[in-house]
Amino acid sequence: MIDFQRVRYSYPGADSQAIAGVSLCLSPGEIVVLVGANGSGKSTLARMCNGLLIPDEGSVTVDGMDTSDGKVAFDIRARVGLVLQNPDNQIVGTVVEEDVAFGPENLGVPCAELRVRVDEALAAVGLSGLERREPHLLSEGQKQRLAIAGALAMQPRYMVFDESTAMLDPQGRRDVLAVMRKLRVAGHGILHVTHHLDDAADADRVIALASGAIAFDGTPEELFSDEGLLVSIGLELPPLASVATALRRSGLDVPVAVANAQSLVEALWP
Ligand SMILES: Nc1ncnc2c1ncn2[C@@H]1O[C@H](COP(=O)(O)OP(=O)(O)O)[C@@H](O)[C@H]1O
Ligand SMILES: [Mg+2]
Repeated sequence: MIDFQRVRYSYPGADSQAIAGVSLCLSPGEIVVLVGANGSGKSTLARMCNGLLIPDEGSVTVDGMDTSDGKVAFDIRARVGLVLQNPDNQIVGTVVEEDVAFGPENLGVPCAELRVRVDEALAAVGLSGLERREPHLLSEGQKQRLAIAGALAMQPRYMVFDESTAMLDPQGRRDVLAVMRKLRVAGHGILHVTHHLDDAADADRVIALASGAIAFDGTPEELFSDEGLLVSIGLELPPLASVATALRRSGLDVPVAVANAQSLVEALWP
């Protein structure tokens, strides 16, 4: 479990806290979506999950290991994969397979196992067959999936995605969301930071940050049904959820948190 206990954090020289007293946990086998307006502290929180940033007050532990304990820093990095928004900043290899191998190689994974891990990670994100491709020749969606494969090859128990779908077209986003669902089934704990509220529809839990504090922690259904709360934390109901809400108001029995148009259609005409 990744466990935040009353965490506070300020950037050096800043006059307000980026994280202002956050307690939350993430367990293996669940997808937690983290939403919030720009500047609400999402990326700061994401970077605290693997010890890139250390709390000023409170604690972050990963399976009992405290991120402020330098002796376990390496173990924590191996256990928590962090995928950032811009994949270009994370690509290090000259060809795809080399890029994916970089992380596990640094962990000291032996050569034979390295091959297996790279093949499995590429298969998980649908990039098998592109092993020898130069990363800069990949599409944006493929680059993002390559960054995910690089993190996966380290076989972390937890994966933190910071706006990893932000630059993708709808198909690319669906592909990445599908990878997250596969990871959940395989028992990984997923923290998905996003400003696309519709990415939250099939999460196990949604946490909303406002000014560095938790403004909501509950199911997507609860969040989508509370438009007043959404507005107060600077978020908008996604278009599909607006349609579903309007249909409910007119007396139709449809869920408010729908992942895609297809599931809305199926709810209307089962
Ligand atoms: N490197 C930094 N130095 C100083 N302040 C920062 C830095 N990164 C973020 N901040 C500030 O911390 C707050 C939270 O930022 P961030 O975690 O990036 O929010 P989000 O990801 O939700 O947009 C904002 O007020 C932002 O301006
Ligand atoms: Mg951010």
